[in-house]
Amino acid sequence: MIALISMMIVSFLAPDVSAVIGGDLNCTTFNGSAFVWTPAAVACSNFISDASCAVLYPTTDTLGFPAPGNAAGRPLACYTTGSVTPAAVIQDMKTAAASTCPRTCGLCCQTEAYNCPNVAYPRLNCASITLSQCNSPAWRTIIAADCPSACGFCTQGGCVDAVTNCGTDLSICQNIGMQSFVNTYCQRTCGRCPSTTASGSVTVTSGTCTSYIADSSSNCASWSRNGFCTNTFYTVAQRRSRCATTCRIC
Ligand SMILES: *[C@@H]1O[C@H](CO)[C@@H](O)[C@H](O)[C@H]1NC(C)=O
Ligand SMILES: *[C@@H]1O[C@H](CO)[C@@H](O)[C@H](O)[C@H]1NC(C)=O
Repeated sequence: MIALISMMIVSFLAPDVSAVIGGDLNCTTFNGSAFVWTPAAVACSNFISDASCAVLYPTTDTLGFPAPGNAAGRPLACYTTGSVTPAAVIQDMKTAAASTCPRTCGLCCQTEAYNCPNVAYPRLNCASITLSQCNSPAWRTIIAADCPSACGFCTQGGCVDAVTNCGTDLSICQNIGMQSFVNTYCQRTCGRCPSTTASGSVTVTSGTCTSYIADSSSNCASWSRNGFCTNTFYTVAQRRSRCATTCRIC
């Protein structure tokens, strides 16, 4: 059935070249009927000009180059010497493409900033995070903690500024009147990250578990903002029983 539907879509959209992602599914997600590119597939910049990348890695797909939500085939030169999809993946070619033209090749998710595990029980669907969410003060800190790979936060150690322009005026970090603002919105630039998420490499923040039991309360996000996860008034057992995932308690 799926094959039939995709054949119909293909013959409708692309009589010559199949608009199907095959062979190498990295940076794609299954949308219910087809593999399509995730936003993180093309969220980074190429390391050389886009025009040069289009020459090095030309597309033969009528849909053009990979874009979030479309099913344009990955340019073949990005991963294979084959000439039809699906073709065998040649890892060296893929590595070279990711270090030159990751955006053109839909390989951003394989670059250092985008290639790390997300938490086991993220508060949002990591695969569908959009570029505007990556830039949104309401989402950035949550994404950095739960879905760092979605926005290229893998090298930020879980700590990002909530707003993107803190660095334009570093004096705000010292300004007495701005402290409550910078503590909330410029944590990274002004060095206000909790020590467990301090700058630098990604660290597992608590214990050695890789997954957490689910929150039993739907209020964990707001409690966490009010200090529930760190308030020693509550025992670890109490915090764990309500909000193990949000508080990252093994
Ligand atoms: C992603 O690429 C790696 C290496 O090229 C491969 O081993 C892995 O199976 C791919 N994952 C998917 C989902 O295609
Ligand atoms: C999945 O992606 C395909 C190809 O872009 C598209 O035709 C189809 O409508 C999408 N399905 C859903 C459920 O979004």
